[in-house]
Amino acid sequence: MTQLNGNGPASSGLSRAGEAADLLDAVKELILPVIKAADDAVSDRAQGVSSSVDSELIPRSVLVESLKPETLVKKLNLSLPENEGAGREGLLDFASKVLRYSVNTWDQGFMDKLYASNTPVGLVADLLLSVLNTNLHVYQVSPALTVIEKVTAQRLANLFGFTGPRAGGISCQGGSASNLTSLVVARNSLYPETKADGNGSHTFILFTSAHGHYSVKKSALTCGMGASNVWQVPVDAEGRMIPAELRNLVLRAKSEGKTPLYVNATAGTTVLGSFDPFEEISVICKEFNLWLHIDASWGGPVVFSAKQRGKLAGAHLADSLTINPHKMMSVPVTCSFLLTNDLGVFHTANTLPAGYLFHADDGAEPGDTWDLADLTLQCGRRGDSLKLALAWIYYGAAGFERQIDNAFGLAAHLASLIQQNENFVLVSSNPPPSLQVCFYYAPGGKLADAPEDNTRTTRTMVEKLVPRGFMVDYAPGDKGSFFRVVVNCQTLRGTVEGLVKALEDVGREGA
Ligand SMILES: Cc1ncc(COP(=O)(O)O)c(C=O)c1O
Repeated sequence: MTQLNGNGPASSGLSRAGEAADLLDAVKELILPVIKAADDAVSDRAQGVSSSVDSELIPRSVLVESLKPETLVKKLNLSLPENEGAGREGLLDFASKVLRYSVNTWDQGFMDKLYASNTPVGLVADLLLSVLNTNLHVYQVSPALTVIEKVTAQRLANLFGFTGPRAGGISCQGGSASNLTSLVVARNSLYPETKADGNGSHTFILFTSAHGHYSVKKSALTCGMGASNVWQVPVDAEGRMIPAELRNLVLRAKSEGKTPLYVNATAGTTVLGSFDPFEEISVICKEFNLWLHIDASWGGPVVFSAKQRGKLAGAHLADSLTINPHKMMSVPVTCSFLLTNDLGVFHTANTLPAGYLFHADDGAEPGDTWDLADLTLQCGRRGDSLKLALAWIYYGAAGFERQIDNAFGLAAHLASLIQQNENFVLVSSNPPPSLQVCFYYAPGGKLADAPEDNTRTTRTMVEKLVPRGFMVDYAPGDKGSFFRVVVNCQTLRGTVEGLVKALEDVGREGA
């Protein structure tokens, strides 16, 4: 078979289909055992113990072989050929190492960050995107994917109650990028002169809750507004923004001659999973002509659940809303949308003339464009919408609803197990507002007096859980760092029960 392999195509023609078939078959042999090992580890997880597989592809703990970076550098031994390539064998050999030394997020024990295992559908979707290898800046080069993005974003927007004639959205490179885009759109819409002239004499002030994601500050510094001009609004005991405090801060900003611009409210905060009171916040935004953005990166998918969607009451009042299907919905990373009731606003805010790129829409109404990059901060864009669209086709909205309801049920089950156990102190409310369950290890129900001691206990236990096949995270709290365990749509009941057993075991071993 002719391999391109650095030599360029053979002069007689191309046989890339055959080469692709050969490599795909070979890689399939490598990837399926990794997924199967995670499936087979389910019963071990339910016991709170680790599997004992050891092969070229799968380390003893199916979840991960934890190594220090210096050791991993040696084991991976990544050598990039200066001359001839290593061809098929070199590629397969290195692919095996990548699989062996990565975290196997298909493992039930992966309950760490706010994203979860991929699914077979996601795998296929990523493969399709790679085959197409197209770019969603203009319709001409990505007609089908452009239609898919428009339709999928519009359906999502409608679910949130954005039902105007130009309701819809765009996909961005992640939640942070969606939030950044919303800030640029907010500033350029409310203060149109800033699009050409910059922030001018304004000292813009942004508001987010004390539990909001740090991407809001990143966005402010990116836009030259300064991270310290993001003011943190105090939260109540459940971690929700207190509207009266927001109002006080807006008044203070005005009295200091500053320009209040933008409120980021959160649907599903990063640590506790709280939902801010959007209706009340919207009243204040309207009173002071502020942009209301909702960061529903994490909690947005509850819109699919009749039981949970009440938490989003008032979301339709937002000017823009971020949702990341790559978090709660098991769609592969990255998949994020910025939604709105009027895409024309995105277009007016972000469009710039680039005759060498945008040809199709001369004379189109703002927001009616099919060249989607013109609505965004990007030029080249990936077709991430396909990954949500294929999952939606496969599972249906009803399937999403069942998955989300099941996950919320398991988060509540875990919270109850922790609450009833005398060796833990639950930080989350029960049932938790989202899929995170936060708690301290506290033998006999007694926390250490010094926060540093609680932090040390949490960290040590988190490390000891890894060889047992559980990866969970922690976050800082008033009494030191506490555990943050994230349930996902594929988590099984046995897994959360096994986790509690594993926690008790490593706790008994002492920190
Ligand atoms: C509430 C919230 N917003 C935004 C983000 C950032 O999303 P991304 O990682 O896709 O940039 C996160 C990430 O966890 C988040 O929890």
